[in-house]
Amino acid sequence: MVVKFLLLFLLLIIPSVVLCLDALNDDVLGLIVFKAGLQDPELKLVSWNESDDSPCKWDGIRCDPATNRVTQLNLDNFYLSGQISRGLLRLQSLQIISLANNNLSGSVNPEFAHLWGLQSIDLSGNNLSGSIPSELFEQCGSLKSVSFANNGLSGVLPESLSSCMTLQSVNLSSNRISGNLPEKIWSLNGLQSLDLSDNLLEGEIPQGFGGMYSLRVISLRKNAFSGVLPEDIGSCLQLQSVNFGENSFSGVIPESLQKLNMCSSVSLNGNLLSGEVPDWIGHMQSLESLDLSTNRFFGRIPFTLGNNRSLKELNLSSNGITGGLPQSLMNCDNLLALDVSKNLLKGKMPNWIFEMGLQKFSLSRNKFKGMIEFPSLRTNALSYQSLQVLDLSSNELSGVIPSEIKAFRGLQFLDMSGNLLIGSIPSTVGDLNMIQVIDLSYNMLNGSIPSEIGGAIALRELRLGGNRLTGHIPPQIENCSSLTALVLSKNNLTGPVPPTIAKLTNLEIADLSYNNLSGNLPKELTDLSHLTVFNVSNNNLEGELPAGGFFDSIPLTSVYGNPSLCGSVVNQSCPAVHPKPIVLNPNPSTNSDDDSFPSNSHHKKLMLSVSALIAIGAAAFIFLGVVIISLLNLHVRNSSHQLAAPMEFSGKDEFSGSPMSDSQYGKLVMFSGEADFGSGAHALLNKDSELGRGGFGVVYHTVLGDGRSVAIKKLNISSLIKSQEEFEREVKKLGKVRHHNLVSLEGYYWTPSLQLLINEYVPGGSLFKHLHEDPSRTSLSWHQRFNIVVGLAKGLDHLHKMNIVHYNLKSSNILIDNSDEAKVGDFGLARLLPMLDRYILSSKIQSALGYMAPEFACKTVKITEKCDVYGFGILVLEIVTGRKPVEYMEDDVVVLAEMVRGALEEGKAEDCIDQRLQGNFVAEEVIPVIKLGLICASQVPSNRPDMAEVVNILELIQCPSEGRDEEIEQV
Ligand SMILES: *[C@@H]1O[C@H](CO)[C@@H](O)[C@H](O)[C@H]1NC(C)=O
Ligand SMILES: *[C@@H]1O[C@H](CO)[C@@H](O)[C@H](O)[C@H]1NC(C)=O
Ligand SMILES: *[C@@H]1O[C@H](CO)[C@@H](O)[C@H](O)[C@H]1NC(C)=O
Repeated sequence: MVVKFLLLFLLLIIPSVVLCLDALNDDVLGLIVFKAGLQDPELKLVSWNESDDSPCKWDGIRCDPATNRVTQLNLDNFYLSGQISRGLLRLQSLQIISLANNNLSGSVNPEFAHLWGLQSIDLSGNNLSGSIPSELFEQCGSLKSVSFANNGLSGVLPESLSSCMTLQSVNLSSNRISGNLPEKIWSLNGLQSLDLSDNLLEGEIPQGFGGMYSLRVISLRKNAFSGVLPEDIGSCLQLQSVNFGENSFSGVIPESLQKLNMCSSVSLNGNLLSGEVPDWIGHMQSLESLDLSTNRFFGRIPFTLGNNRSLKELNLSSNGITGGLPQSLMNCDNLLALDVSKNLLKGKMPNWIFEMGLQKFSLSRNKFKGMIEFPSLRTNALSYQSLQVLDLSSNELSGVIPSEIKAFRGLQFLDMSGNLLIGSIPSTVGDLNMIQVIDLSYNMLNGSIPSEIGGAIALRELRLGGNRLTGHIPPQIENCSSLTALVLSKNNLTGPVPPTIAKLTNLEIADLSYNNLSGNLPKELTDLSHLTVFNVSNNNLEGELPAGGFFDSIPLTSVYGNPSLCGSVVNQSCPAVHPKPIVLNPNPSTNSDDDSFPSNSHHKKLMLSVSALIAIGAAAFIFLGVVIISLLNLHVRNSSHQLAAPMEFSGKDEFSGSPMSDSQYGKLVMFSGEADFGSGAHALLNKDSELGRGGFGVVYHTVLGDGRSVAIKKLNISSLIKSQEEFEREVKKLGKVRHHNLVSLEGYYWTPSLQLLINEYVPGGSLFKHLHEDPSRTSLSWHQRFNIVVGLAKGLDHLHKMNIVHYNLKSSNILIDNSDEAKVGDFGLARLLPMLDRYILSSKIQSALGYMAPEFACKTVKITEKCDVYGFGILVLEIVTGRKPVEYMEDDVVVLAEMVRGALEEGKAEDCIDQRLQGNFVAEEVIPVIKLGLICASQVPSNRPDMAEVVNILELIQCPSEGRDEEIEQV
């Protein structure tokens, strides 16, 4: 044993030693060395034990009983990897090596030639590379059969091949062998089978083919051979199978071919052959399969083909054959497959074909006319059951699809597309329980898709596009659970996309485009995990696109043309399901001290982030309002010029007297003090004294006779205003509101076409200006900010106690007086409108960007003072962060409340605090104030506290210490 192991070692390390060890001549040793070069993951060679004295009982080994020497090695399909080692060369009595269908690599060892007794070597179906060694055939002993098929061999065929006269079978198919056939290859006249198919061989076939009188099978299929087919092929009388397909052979079919009486298979497809299909083919009595497809044959189909009683398969497709289909083919009793597609055939639909018991029939792309009928179905029903493939597509067939189609019980593939068929789809297709493909597209079919289609349980593809189908998509389609393609486009289908489609879990392609489908897309569709195409474009679908799965990346082209469909893909926001802050004006801060009005500010390009979509949905709605208001504004300005001149103001409480009822003269009411505009009267309505413009009008600054500064607001919504009586009642009510933190209304002026409100003038500018403009101004300290928050809360609390809802809270409506006290202005103006119409309201106060409570979007929720609490909450966040409620970034929209809420949840609330405070704030106050702001800005109105509670909470938050700012500065 020790000696044996030592030898094994030497064999593995120094292979050349092997030849010096002839004396040992040990099959066990050779096989063990061979095994050592392999991976055997399935342990197929586990019986190969080196301790055994004889290998004859090992798996895959056969010995000569007389000598006990190994004669056969048969390891097909043993899952072996690795290289074929020289160990095999030790097996001097080996006759047969068969290692087919493993994963062996490396090149073919030329030294196999030293195995003198070798008769057959089969290495097909491995990973061998390199070229075929010439040595293998130089002294080829008794080699009869060689197969290297299905490997990766390259290089040229060795010339020596022609000298290995013992060869009977050569199979080198499916490699990458190139070059020409060896000049003398036909001297191998013992050859019975030659398969060189599927390589890269080229050139012409050498002369002398006729000498191959033993040849039974030849395949040169799928190479690049050219030239003509061998003229003398008819001398190879043993030939049974000829395959010259998929090359570039030209010329005609050699006439001598007709002598091949034993030939059962002729494949000449995929060449450049031309001429007519010869009549004499009908005399080849053994012919079972004839494939002349994809050549340049012309002329008619010879009726002599009816004599080929053995014919099973006839393929004449893709030529230029004319005329009709000879009915003599009916005599071909054994015919199973007939393909005459893609020719120039014409004539009546050959309905007799259905009586032949064919399995496959294709007539596709010819010019056959007439109706499809099933003759003698009653007498010969059995012949109908064998049909598996029926392709009548792209002809000019007319009439209806006979409901007797159900007689084709074995039908798997049915294509009648591209004809002129009318009528409805027979419900009997549901009886075809083997059918996998139904294509009836591009006909003129009408009626609805039969619900019986659910019976076609094997269906994989259903193509009915381009017809005139109406009605609903039957929900029974769910029973076709193997369906991968459903194409119903370009019909007139109505009704919804049935949710049952979502049960077709194998669905890859669904094309329902160009119909009249309506309703919502079922959410369940997102369950379809194999979907690659889902086209519902050009229908009347509505509602939200499903979100998730395939639908997150659905292309626009698959959904466009559904005006009521919404979702990010179609750039249409859906009616908000989750309340969001209403974001209306993408460009809020271009001007003005007072509330800004965007009709004079151009709109920036809208950014389409998800949160912006809500804004756009609302903005589209509002645009109309903007236009109307702008027009009204213009009208008022024109008429005010005429009115300014006769306008006279006189003192005391009520401007009454004769002009009162005269429409040319207005009525001026001051709630306190003088109403003498003095020189200010001239300045009134003068551009220079304009303070700003807002949704409700232009604001001017002037000084009354008594020295009081007032801000006069010219309402620009006159035609929307109520009657004088109601107007006065509302204004007087507003005039009674007096609070330290509210801008007081001092009086008003009324004519039917012009209304003025005279307000207290607050000199310090708006909160908006303090927070977002004028960088020269030193920003508000925390103490000032907190004070403003408290002032705001108190002002609003008072307003609510007077049963007035502000409706229009925003930082540009908050004025700061000289002692840094906040005063809320512009309150209650919405009450002057004839009705609290949300449409008008939202267009009036649309610049209240980001302050508007979400319930504004929802028509059914009552608007209450909680709406102001929301605006207050946003104001608080704005004051603390110094940021606008909505900020438009390059490609995003930052909604302040969401941003702060997110930061708070991450415990990073302090990061949001205005940088300009530079850390000078009281943390015990800031964080609670932020939280209060967020609570006030709750989405749900009932979650918001009322303003009285807010005032109380603020008092609790406020730290007791005085002079806090100084303390902080010392720290
Ligand atoms: C090989 O055979 C010997 C004796 O016949 C035995 O002891 C040993 O276990 C076998 N080895 C394997 C791997 O089966
Ligand atoms: C085939 O062999 C190669 C190496 O020779 C190896 O990487 C590969 O995993 C093998 N494949 C199989 C299926 O065994
Ligand atoms: C589709 O049906 C509607 C009504 O059902 C009809 O008005 C319309 O003309 C039809 N369209 C086509 C292309 O047949």
